Amino acid sequence: MKILVTGGLGFIGSHTVVELAKENNEVIIIDNLYNSKIDVLENLEKITGKNFKFYECDLKNKEELEKVFKENEIDSVIHFAGYKAVGESVKKPLMYYSNNLVSTMNLLEIMDKYGIKKFVFSSSATVYGNPGIVKYTEDLGRGQASSPYGTTKCIIEKMLEDLYFSDNTWNISILRYFNPVGAHESGLIGEEPNGIPNNLMPYIMKVASGKLEMLSVFGNDYPTPDGTGIRDYIHVVDLAKGHVKALEKMKEGVNYYNLGSGKGVSVLELVNTFEKVNNVKVNYKVVGRRDGDLAEYYADPSKALNELNWKTEKTLEDICRDSWNYEKNNK
Ligand code: NAD
Ligand code: UD1
Repeated sequence: MKILVTGGLGFIGSHTVVELAKENNEVIIIDNLYNSKIDVLENLEKITGKNFKFYECDLKNKEELEKVFKENEIDSVIHFAGYKAVGESVKKPLMYYSNNLVSTMNLLEIMDKYGIKKFVFSSSATVYGNPGIVKYTEDLGRGQASSPYGTTKCIIEKMLEDLYFSDNTWNISILRYFNPVGAHESGLIGEEPNGIPNNLMPYIMKVASGKLEMLSVFGNDYPTPDGTGIRDYIHVVDLAKGHVKALEKMKEGVNYYNLGSGKGVSVLELVNTFEKVNNVKVNYKVVGRRDGDLAEYYADPSKALNELNWKTEKTLEDICRDSWNYEKNNK
């Protein structure tokens, strides 16, 4: 199959390119390098031993984007490209609405024009809002997302439902990720956040490597066993494999899947596992809760198991080891 991967040099996109290539798919990558580096392409080629056709293109530029479809016979599209920083989206909502929505609309319009109707979309557990239970199933439906970033995911999901309603030849898989972490075991690709990280795992790595002094644990008075927040951390390679399965099992309609491990892990459990597996120290102090954080949630991933034959295989130890390996390799 010939698959177009937008945002294919980013964190999750790059790992997905590796897994797609392993299954002998032909992969075409689009990225505007807003949040990634061109070196990733070289590293993808090192890992897979394959070459990829790459377009440095902004999805907001419809003419440029259409060129990619004119020049290639594409079977399906996996759409990762977008901005993803929750805090930044609160400060710059229009930038998020513009990039995430315009890009997606351009892409879908061009796909429609060229009769390509197989689409996999990167959504997020954030679309569930605060449903009042901790184990999220797909049938909970969308709640109130807590940021403009999350709202862009809700709007795109709705847009895809409306598109299918107007033309039921579309095959759409919406993948709702929980907390993607980890890196490829080669240490060649991983997550490279700009500036001071907001998310837990990137922050732990900066503290462990001495680039930042101390992790702030946001609250230890939650109603959880150790009082710290609980999330479902998923190794990015498992997540990437979920996309390959979603494409293989693609069917008519708009189909939603949670991609998570189904296990909740607390902040302190992650810190302790990281220290133990890597034999490094992560200095931390407990501070107040972060605004907008929920105490606990994790995926019910049984729909993905039943319908896609997918489940996570990597352990929390693998996650900690591979993250640290990437950090050391890229010091
Ligand atoms: P990332 O920033 O590493 O990758 C996104 C890539 O898209 C980047 O390489 C960036 O340069 C590119 N891009 C952004 N806007 C573009 C545009 N207009 N045109 C072309 N390229 C553009 O992010 P990621 O972590 O790999 O996330 C991929 C997708 O998954 C995003 O849609 C994100 O919202 C979603 N998601 C991520 C997480 C997470 O924690 N990483 C969780 C849930 C959902
Ligand atoms: C956030 C986003 C989510 C996004 C995800 C991955 C919100 C409400 N959710 O999830 O949409 O998909 O990032 O990009 O913003 N923590 C600390 N100290 C830190 C950082 C985090 O204690 O320095 C704690 C948090 O309180 C939380 C856990 O670690 O309990 C995970 O936080 P984080 O990695 O930021 O992810 P989420 O908030 O779950």
